[in-house]
Amino acid sequence: MNDAQLIAAPSGRHNRYLRALARQPVDTTPVWIMRQAGRYLPEYRATRAQAGSFMDLCQNPELATEVTMQPLRRFELDAAILFSDILTIPDALGLGLHFVEGEGPRFSSPLRSVADIDRLGRIDPEQQLGYVMDAVRMIRRELNGLVPLIGFSGSPWTLACYMLGGRSDTGFKEARQLAWNEPEAMHRLLSLLSDIVIDYLAAQRAAGAQSLMVFDTWGGTLPFADYREYSLRYLAQIVEGLRKLPEPAPVTLFSKGAQAHLSAMADTGCQALGLDWTASLRESRQLVGDRVALQGNLDPNALRANPKALRNMVALTLADYGSGPGHIFNLGHGITPDIDPEQLKLVVDCVHEFGREPTLLA
Ligand code: CP3
Repeated sequence: MNDAQLIAAPSGRHNRYLRALARQPVDTTPVWIMRQAGRYLPEYRATRAQAGSFMDLCQNPELATEVTMQPLRRFELDAAILFSDILTIPDALGLGLHFVEGEGPRFSSPLRSVADIDRLGRIDPEQQLGYVMDAVRMIRRELNGLVPLIGFSGSPWTLACYMLGGRSDTGFKEARQLAWNEPEAMHRLLSLLSDIVIDYLAAQRAAGAQSLMVFDTWGGTLPFADYREYSLRYLAQIVEGLRKLPEPAPVTLFSKGAQAHLSAMADTGCQALGLDWTASLRESRQLVGDRVALQGNLDPNALRANPKALRNMVALTLADYGSGPGHIFNLGHGITPDIDPEQLKLVVDCVHEFGREPTLLA
């Protein structure tokens, strides 16, 4: 079955995520969770230990497939997300990615000068990131139609922040400095990254990804005009580039903290927008109208609440969106390692219980 036939079939676990992205009616609200394959699961920690390191895990398609499947065995999630990382692109560009326990990502050769930027070039995703495409193909086989598979990339701005900063740090003063001091070099870098992201997501699509998400984790930290110039402009180019594929897939844009830009983001022609937990689904929906579906936006910290309070927050999130199609339930950001998996089970089950449209309840 191709994706168009899948979407046209009656709504169920195998297609409700794709139907919601297309703003078609669903039997109940679909749910998936950012970082659903991660350290809060003991089986993930065991597989990562077996792999050696986080990057070894990403680069081993069998083990990446295993950890992608783990949350789907425990919870009735409605989508799988490729197990990988947004920083595979800078790694393939030669920046030397490694993860320092407890501190996050580091690059051994971050970009230090305009000359470093001008040495970068396009990559062939099937060559330099072949392990990602192998994982996509293997996960699709393993899923065997259970739920759709999401592929992803970082946004040019967010990738540039890490490539120039060299490590995890929310200030990313290096990227801001380059944008102010050498705007042309910054635009050359972002433009190259946009082309690379398009090639990378197109390759994931060709390998079997059924929906594509762009994570712009640091876009929302920019001043208003700079967000439009350095982040949104390139997100729009990516959406445009992916629309030209022989079989386009729905694209979800997630700029964390960019509530002020939602309407402009919907203007890119993407199919969905991810919202962080500070946004109102209701007000966002009024802003974007019927242009896009909305994904989100339970506070990741709500998973620390007691079960009664947690159920209540899930119900409030669903009520905030209101009735009608186009809602994909998720957290407003990734699940953290300290969460009890039973709390996530409660969320997923509540979404399906409360997310049924009254008209469909007979
Ligand atoms: O389950 C999934 O969501 C799919 C896999 C996925 C990972 N990272 C695995 C991961 C996805 C979609 C990402 C995206 C990602 N990676 C983003 C954008 C989304 C966001 O969270 O804002 C960013 C900014 C990164 C970069 C990155 N990777 C950081 C900053 C860190 C360290 C932070 C931390 O949680 O330790 C990572 C590591 C990482 N990526 C882990 C996982 C499961 C934890 C690594 C481990 O196992 O030790």
